[in-house]
Amino acid sequence: MPVTILVGTQWGDEGKGKVTDVLADEAQLIARYNGGDNAGHTLAVQEQTYKLHFIPSGILRPGVMSLMGGGMVIHPERLLNEMESLRRQGIEVTPQRLKLATNAHIITPAHQLLEQAQEKARGRAKLDTTGRGIGPAYASKIAREGIRAAAMRDPDAFGTAIYQAIAQTNRVLNLIYQDEPLDADAVARYYHNVASELAPYLVDSWALVHAMLREGGHVLAEGGQATLLDVDHGNYPYVTSSNPVAGGALVGLGFGPRVVDRVIGVAKAFCTRVGAGPFPTQVEGEMAERMRGDGSQAWDDFGTTTGRPRRMGWLDLVALRYAVAVNGLTELALTKLDVLSRFADIPVAVAYEIDGERTDAYPVDMARFARATPIYETLPGWEVDIMGVTRYADLPAAARRYVEWIEAQLEVPLTLVSVGPGREQTLLRG
Ligand code: GDP
Ligand code: IMO
Ligand code: MG
Repeated sequence: MPVTILVGTQWGDEGKGKVTDVLADEAQLIARYNGGDNAGHTLAVQEQTYKLHFIPSGILRPGVMSLMGGGMVIHPERLLNEMESLRRQGIEVTPQRLKLATNAHIITPAHQLLEQAQEKARGRAKLDTTGRGIGPAYASKIAREGIRAAAMRDPDAFGTAIYQAIAQTNRVLNLIYQDEPLDADAVARYYHNVASELAPYLVDSWALVHAMLREGGHVLAEGGQATLLDVDHGNYPYVTSSNPVAGGALVGLGFGPRVVDRVIGVAKAFCTRVGAGPFPTQVEGEMAERMRGDGSQAWDDFGTTTGRPRRMGWLDLVALRYAVAVNGLTELALTKLDVLSRFADIPVAVAYEIDGERTDAYPVDMARFARATPIYETLPGWEVDIMGVTRYADLPAAARRYVEWIEAQLEVPLTLVSVGPGREQTLLRG
């Protein structure tokens, strides 16, 4: 069946890029449906590491088309830089292979400056965003003051719209935050010039998706961010400003629910989070350092986008059950199982205690969530390197037990286990 949605189930960085890359050869179109370059999807293919921010993970597969969907926000200059750096790595980035939706929204330097001022004003209550201007760009869109990518077809009009947007933000920066204004003329001139470079990539995303489906093609919708960062279903306000949940794919690309047959949730075998907000199963100190790695390996848990050390914690089944429900997951992919080889015992949260009561229902109310203490069950570790394992059956018994126990707890088939960043370090189950 035609559409597969791939979604992060935790706080991002679950390995969505890697899993998309593994599944990409089954698809004709890979489409990102939300977010911008707050996302960082890392792919390790044949000794090379590729870091993707705007561009879908299908770009590495010859013969596959990639679409940046209408639910995304795009910073033209940073997109052009990403395209250029992929070309330097030998990847063909052309308007035939890569498409940008006409209804995606533009991030301007004013959005970024505004976000900096907002974060500063929040002080200790800052959200700790990626600082890319994502929130203000979505705010402009929802306020009906945004600029759509389609505007780049007319560089003069686009330059004027950018000028007006910058001038407007300058007033806000000056009046509310007493910050320095941007040079609206210079920004508008620059955006005028990039418009003609990006215009050849523009396409109406609904039309592309439906043409693919009519021809019997397979579309893989790749989420940025993740369920617990969703603006509606995540830990508001410690969220991003888009809808990473599966429903976001329908809105962000323009198709209905009946064409979707698989919804794959990607989960790390433990939990990480970058940025602020409650994290019930977080561990600190030596345990966190051991889980994170020291940064000497490309896959150690430091942010792809910001380089920040990720906060580390044990797997949280309460949150995962919630992700199964709100995304309608049909299957689960479990990544980074190899990292747990470092531990003799592996605690997993099976329920929370909140105000003295046990619950296994994820609390949407942030104040309650912030008071949740995890109740753990501890599973035995395996303490041997599994990064070279190529068949599921060859995993140590304790590792298989961990996987199968999670599958039983969540009542969703766990169809893919990842034991390393490489394509070949992927164990398919059934
Ligand atoms: P994404 O944002 O969900 O695509 O995930 P990121 O790319 O930000 O972070 C995942 C990191 O883990 C990347 O460096 C991947 O190359 C790496 N990775 C993915 N799967 C595995 C795995 O099974 N084991 C290990 N060790 N690394 C993995
Ligand atoms: P991928 O696609 C992890 C986090 C930020 C911050 C919050 C809001 O690589 O999984 P934003 O800049 O979006 O307004 O920041 O969301 N965040 C991510 N964390 N992975 C991501 O993307 C993220 N995108 C945003 O750290 O806490
Ligand atoms: Mg990431």
